[in-house]
Amino acid sequence: MNANSIRDGLSYGDVLLVPRRSSINSRKDVNTETTLCGKIKLKIPIISANMDTVTESAMAIGIARQGGIGIIHRFMDIERQVSEVEKVKRAEAYKINRPYTISKDATLGEAKEVMKRHGVSGLLVVGKGNKLEGLLSRRDIRFQKDETQRIEDLMTKRSSLIVGEEDIKIDRAIKLLDKNRLEKLPLVDKRGTVKGLITAKDLERFTSSTWSAKDARGRLLVGAAIGTKGDFIDRAIKLCDADADILVLDVAHGHTESVIRAIKKVKSQIPRMPLIVGNVATKEATEELISAGADCVKVGIGPGAACTTRLVTGAGMPQFTAVAECSEVAEKMGTAIIADGGVKTSGDITKALAAGASAVMIGSLLAGTDESPGYFIIRDGIKYKAYRGMASFGANVSRKKVDKAQVESWDIQDIIPEGVESVVPYRGGVPEVVGQLMGGLRSGMSYCGASNLKELRDNARFVKLTTNGAIESYEKL
Ligand code: XMP
Repeated sequence: MNANSIRDGLSYGDVLLVPRRSSINSRKDVNTETTLCGKIKLKIPIISANMDTVTESAMAIGIARQGGIGIIHRFMDIERQVSEVEKVKRAEAYKINRPYTISKDATLGEAKEVMKRHGVSGLLVVGKGNKLEGLLSRRDIRFQKDETQRIEDLMTKRSSLIVGEEDIKIDRAIKLLDKNRLEKLPLVDKRGTVKGLITAKDLERFTSSTWSAKDARGRLLVGAAIGTKGDFIDRAIKLCDADADILVLDVAHGHTESVIRAIKKVKSQIPRMPLIVGNVATKEATEELISAGADCVKVGIGPGAACTTRLVTGAGMPQFTAVAECSEVAEKMGTAIIADGGVKTSGDITKALAAGASAVMIGSLLAGTDESPGYFIIRDGIKYKAYRGMASFGANVSRKKVDKAQVESWDIQDIIPEGVESVVPYRGGVPEVVGQLMGGLRSGMSYCGASNLKELRDNARFVKLTTNGAIESYEKL
């Protein structure tokens, strides 16, 4: 080995963007739209990480409402992951195509359980052949104590309900809800079979939010992660059936033969499903994954805040270099990359996008929000939330518990953690945190004279920092 042949690798902290002449008057004039996998359009280039302390449905809803997308993690059984995707899909559609229903013969106790499990305030009551028989709302059961009562005796009966036709237009639905002071409008076909539901709350939100990242049916965008082993194809198909917008095939080391085989399998089963694959950190890996069928590549080996891969294994690539090199290849091949991990400030986002990424994936900065899974921890009067690497000891143990096949046979010595478990400071809600990050990005773009992300990439000129340059840049009061 010739030590002189070893090249430099740069991290976000090693570089700065050189300010350029700008005609942008206000950061509000800057457009942060981006496209992933050729067809997923986001208003902001932010993706919440598929980690069990970051993204379940609440985070995915919060991020999509800000214009980005969340990736539901895969460290849960398939049914639960599908249900998390469905919760996001139901959160903001003006029309729910498959509303939750309950049989008129069920009991109040059963209805309460279904409402709680799905987080809904009402259920359509159906008889044989999914025929609408009534509506059970919170109002109907508010003061009812006897949980053995039949739903049929508590519901508002079909004869007193106003319903809409299955292909009802939004304007007519608004009129019906408004005129009759309704909260819920069941949709039925000519035979009276349930075909959907429109709620006043959803309609209100739908008509007032123009910034959210939405699919063609007006539902929030959401992605979901899959692995490369066991039932991953079954998981992928079920997530696709639940209308997830993107799948993320995500393993610690993405440049492997098993990942390439897995890409081909997923693509042969569900060819139209946009597929992001990672993680990698080199040009060769990016090229191979795209050639195998990846629609977008996730870049980052070891930069994450809770990540100890570089310490434990000695392997990794400084993130700025990885992003710049991988994006060069991806662009030539007509695809995009996502810069995953290591974003500590909004300035890092500007640098990642200027280096060629189409979006950044964020874990630790979002883990401290109201929308992340888990509880608050108060230490010395200060609020925190838990954050752990998905290759940490605790996450490995949780994963083995989900993967029932492994439960009996696993040995503690089999676990070589590449991540740590810690806490991050509570930062408020996703809107505030994302608002700060995006404000910083917009200002950064205006320093570069860029009114959109393409101009940011095209205009980018970087300067490498010396030790004194780094002290001058980052050591502040
Ligand atoms: P940030 O810096 O935003 O990074 O917290 C989030 C990303 O970190 C990666 N990740 C890990 N990497 N060991 C690793 O080597 C781990 O245990 C681990 N957990 C998460 C992942 O790419 C995530 O999006």
